[in-house]
Amino acid sequence: MSFYSQDLVEEIRSRSDIVDVISGYIKLQRKGSNYVGVCPFHNDRNPSMSVNQPRQIYRCFSCGAGGDVFKFVMEYENLSFPEAVKVLADRAGIALPQQEYSGEAKRQSDLKAQIMEMNRLAARYYYYTLRQPEGQQGLDYLLGRQLSKETLQKFGLGYADKYSDSLYRYLKGKGYTDQQLKESGLVQVDEKRGMYDKFWNRVIFPIMDIQNRVIGFGGRVMGDGKPKYLNSPETKVFDKSRNLYGLNLARMSRKPNIILCEGYMDVIAMHQAGFHQAVASLGTAFTARQSLVLKRYTNEVLLTYDSDEAGVRAALRALPILKDAGIAAKIINMEPYKDPDEFIKALGAEAFQERMDKAEGSFFFELRMMEREYDFSDPERKTAFFRALSERLLQFEAGVERQTYLEAAAKKYDLAENQLAHMVDQTGRKLGGGPRAPVHAQTGQQKRKKTEDAGLRSQRLLITWMSSDAKTFRSICKYIEPEEFTDPLCRKVAELLQDQWKSGRLNPASLFQYFTEEEEQQKVSAMLYDTIPKLSGKEEEEKALQETILRVKSASIAWQTEHMDPNNVETLQKIVQKRREIEKLHISLD
Ligand code: CTP
Ligand code: MN
Repeated sequence: MSFYSQDLVEEIRSRSDIVDVISGYIKLQRKGSNYVGVCPFHNDRNPSMSVNQPRQIYRCFSCGAGGDVFKFVMEYENLSFPEAVKVLADRAGIALPQQEYSGEAKRQSDLKAQIMEMNRLAARYYYYTLRQPEGQQGLDYLLGRQLSKETLQKFGLGYADKYSDSLYRYLKGKGYTDQQLKESGLVQVDEKRGMYDKFWNRVIFPIMDIQNRVIGFGGRVMGDGKPKYLNSPETKVFDKSRNLYGLNLARMSRKPNIILCEGYMDVIAMHQAGFHQAVASLGTAFTARQSLVLKRYTNEVLLTYDSDEAGVRAALRALPILKDAGIAAKIINMEPYKDPDEFIKALGAEAFQERMDKAEGSFFFELRMMEREYDFSDPERKTAFFRALSERLLQFEAGVERQTYLEAAAKKYDLAENQLAHMVDQTGRKLGGGPRAPVHAQTGQQKRKKTEDAGLRSQRLLITWMSSDAKTFRSICKYIEPEEFTDPLCRKVAELLQDQWKSGRLNPASLFQYFTEEEEQQKVSAMLYDTIPKLSGKEEEEKALQETILRVKSASIAWQTEHMDPNNVETLQKIVQKRREIEKLHISLD
């Protein structure tokens, strides 16, 4: 949340027209009542971002990015909310009262800026050292690994010399305090030695965020020493779970996929070979946050994890994470080489491209890895494998998806489809502890999910309706209370809209500051951006609204029924009462 008063934020908003502001960053064109442009938050050529001037919000229909004017500036410039407020205040010529931007907020935002600046200076220092006589060993090492001078420059590679306090002294000379240097992660303290550099006698890989700002470093020994890599600790600006090495370059690559590698050297070798879409996680396992970041830029990820056992395990862990983010994953087979770096050195870029074209879908990769654990010449083990396969198939949603994979697997192992389907049913029954519907039919659970989805759709639609204009809001809020929304996000939006209404002005764009999670913001922007389809008159509109409100109310009653204490007569009576009320409900838009 903000450290500024709500009034001030609204004042800045009212003087920062969203079309003007966004036009300062990307080209917008008028289209009907909206403006459209190429979305800067994912890799695209088509104008999929739309800006709605009356509502002062934007939304990308391709990657889902969306929000108000502050959100756009935060996203585009990678700023915190108070920082974005400052940018827009400056732009609008509004002076920020000093005390409002002080205390903790100011300290935090200053500290972030200071760390960024220390990182920038450190990166330049390492870069420079690599090109000095004392950097010769580092340069020899990197060139020995067949990196070109151009590549060294593109990745800003550097060198930390043999002394353990060179950087410390350099940054002290720039006026930074020991406390600041500690916060940067570039310098460590211990009782005996005092302050000393995190990195020395290593080649340095600066890690950049998507805005090309240095957020941390990796340092590699020049040989076989241990540990092979050291990485900056997490700091105010370095969050390893949401950044990816090379993404600043890959996002601009205009390639249809992203290649996910294991290491820094892999990414660099891939880029040098022309695969500019390569990225890697930061010395840690691939995370769900990273998958959501990738989803902004692509729908397909090709994995080139090391072909050793650890690499396979890491790949198997990354696959479900990618799937959850809605990304299709394929695996590049690099055998007999260990990693893309070695592969390219040995066989070159063309051969790698061939392997990319032949990349294996994640399901078949998983099966192949599973096969390794079963000896097919032993009938018992073979049966065990098919049981494991059935379990894997049960992880797909029943219906078309599971059926498709079932067919593919049956074909691969030369089984009759109904035979495999039977085995899946049996396994499902065993696992579920009771009879299960056959794979083809819809399960009870699925049916329930469908009605839930419909309920959710109605709730979102109603929010869209409520936020469209003041008059409509007034009519609708006569019939529905925020607590009748069973979906927590919809309920929160309804509550906030009601608060705004009570304090005098409906202002949907200002809702975004109450949602800090990316996912929530996307859902909220979808609701607020949507428009109600044009209806041919008041009567028809009332009818449509009536249906929507009824569905929302029914979902609420269904929820209460399910969650009530069956012995509580009072609640039961209330629910019965509500059911009667909705039967008599008649919506009028006056
Ligand atoms: N890593 C790490 N700390 C280590 C070893 C590895 O943080 N001690 C991380 C680094 O991000 C590294 C990645 O894991 O880039 C992959 O490790 P590895 O395959 O060993 O390194 P490569 O990047 O392939 O480097 P090289 O080719 O020099 O071996
Ligand atoms: Mn490697």
